[in-house]
Amino acid sequence: MINQLLHNMQIAGDGFVLREWYLEDAISLQQQANNPNVAACLLDRFPHPYTLSDAVGWLNTKIKQNPMVNFAIDVDGSAVGGIGLEMRQDVYRKTPLLGYWLGEDYWSRGIMPKAIRLITEYAFAQLDIICIQACILSKNPRSMRVLEKAGYQKQGILQRSVIKHEQIYDEHVYATFK
Ligand SMILES: CC(C)(COP(=O)(O)OP(=O)(O)OC[C@H]1O[C@@H](n2cnc3c(N)ncnc32)[C@H](O)[C@@H]1OP(=O)(O)O)[C@@H](O)C(=O)NCCC(=O)NCCS
Repeated sequence: MINQLLHNMQIAGDGFVLREWYLEDAISLQQQANNPNVAACLLDRFPHPYTLSDAVGWLNTKIKQNPMVNFAIDVDGSAVGGIGLEMRQDVYRKTPLLGYWLGEDYWSRGIMPKAIRLITEYAFAQLDIICIQACILSKNPRSMRVLEKAGYQKQGILQRSVIKHEQIYDEHVYATFK
């Protein structure tokens, strides 16, 4: 259920809530994000080590978004992960990219496939978009499984298209359509 008040947007999940980010999330964000296992398959702009200053800096760019595209994943009142859409320009303006991560203590509870379904439903209802894409490193089969559980389909593989920690990887492109 999507609940939109002036500064209090929430999407209720099963055992978690997707909600807007607050500056007060900085400590929890830093603690959950500061983990090499979380950062290993993310873009380099998700830093490791992840400092309190990184958390505050990122939060300052995301609070009071309009439209909302970056959500905290809140379990029992704490932000333990994030999920969001990167809106793009030009010919990609209606095909945003999906990204997501969860603190390691919360893995394997089935949270992320449900969170992806919720943000997808929200985005198709609220944003003028035709498709959502997600790009997954070949070394992250767990994330591919999560997308498949959330109803996304593999579109193809961009061979040798990514460098992470000086290793070359293929990127698997997934999508779902309105
Ligand atoms: C990827 C991530 C979001 C998964 O979220 P989650 O809420 O733990 O996902 P789930 O609870 O559905 O569990 C993962 C699924 O992958 C499966 N899985 C785990 N390791 C796997 C592997 N090596 N190969 C294939 N499937 C695997 C699990 O069995 C489970 O599927 P199942 O329910 O059918 O058994 C989480 O691990 C994470 O945040 N990782 C770090 C950040 C990241 O990589 N983000 C994605 C970037 S594209």
